Amino acid sequence: MRSFDPKEHPVPFVHRLLLSGVAPRPIALVSSLDAEGRYNLSPFSFFNAFGANPPVIVVSPAYRGKDGTPKHSFENIRDTGEFTVSAVSHAMVEQISLASSDYERGVDEFVKSGFTKLPSRIVAPPGVAESPFVIECRLLHHYDTGGLPGSGNLMIAEVVMFHVRESAFTGDRIDPRRLDLVARMGYNWYCRANGEALFELPKPGHSGIGFEALPQHIRESAVLTGNNLAKLAGTETLPDSHEILERWSEDMRGIDPAEVEADMFEVELRMGQAHRALLALMADWKRGALDNPGISRRLQHCTQVALEHNELTFAWECALMSHADAVAALSAGT
Ligand SMILES: Cc1cc2nc3c(=O)[nH]c(=O)nc-3n(C[C@H](O)[C@H](O)[C@H](O)COP(=O)(O)O)c2cc1C
Repeated sequence: MRSFDPKEHPVPFVHRLLLSGVAPRPIALVSSLDAEGRYNLSPFSFFNAFGANPPVIVVSPAYRGKDGTPKHSFENIRDTGEFTVSAVSHAMVEQISLASSDYERGVDEFVKSGFTKLPSRIVAPPGVAESPFVIECRLLHHYDTGGLPGSGNLMIAEVVMFHVRESAFTGDRIDPRRLDLVARMGYNWYCRANGEALFELPKPGHSGIGFEALPQHIRESAVLTGNNLAKLAGTETLPDSHEILERWSEDMRGIDPAEVEADMFEVELRMGQAHRALLALMADWKRGALDNPGISRRLQHCTQVALEHNELTFAWECALMSHADAVAALSAGT
């Protein structure tokens, strides 16, 4: 790996490093008012939520890199103690980029970037009507991380009101597919939380056996990935190898290799049909077309496909039977 000591590199380099690896970051479109009541609107991706009781967020308008001067959003929040954060959907991305331009103090970026003001209920600054998710915030603490060009200003704030578009809901849940939010990556990259970028991963309902309890041949598999092993390690108890061995021997005896075409295993695997792939593999096995390590590898491919389809029990069966002793025992029975 390349290692970088931040003290040995210029601030812009460290900034780029941080932005590339701490990613994707949500984008807060921050609206604030100056002491004279003039509107300001700017995006900030040094932003996140930090607890729900009370609901707390932090946004960080840094000191300008070029001259160390404070940004208008920071001064406004410090002076008035209030702001709103509007989440940024893909439909808003060009406009927020425009709003990030370094306009003179007092210039209304709602007007410059073509956004509509959404009246707030509790704080004075409005939200952005085009956003599907808007929060009203009140400053709790300000923490200055250095007072130098590129230093951060952590504006720690309590969320005092949430506003969520009706169209964002599927039933009573906010549906990420309906929000279509964007996030910031390094350099000029953004990321869109939609389509194949979204996936669900259920939380573990129990404590799994853990990696160290996986049988060695599984842990050291050249086929199974870290994600595959984690799914196996998330199980509570191991199935009984003897029972599987007996059942599989029985299944093998019932298979007629003449009825199974030679390319069946690959096709079923590609189709995500782990059970059918195993039957095809058993036919090849009986034909004597494969050596034992080859059988073992193919069984682990069946494990992989079964895991991808959340067939955990069957995945375990294939994984356990891929042990060299089990393969030898099954081969002896054919
Ligand atoms: C997507 C995006 C994210 C940004 N994130 C930050 C940030 O986290 N901190 C920051 O200081 N500037 C950030 N900027 C730059 C500010 O938006 C920019 O400096 C803006 O002019 C500040 O406006 P203000 O002086 O009116 O507050 C970001 C810009 C974009 C386009």
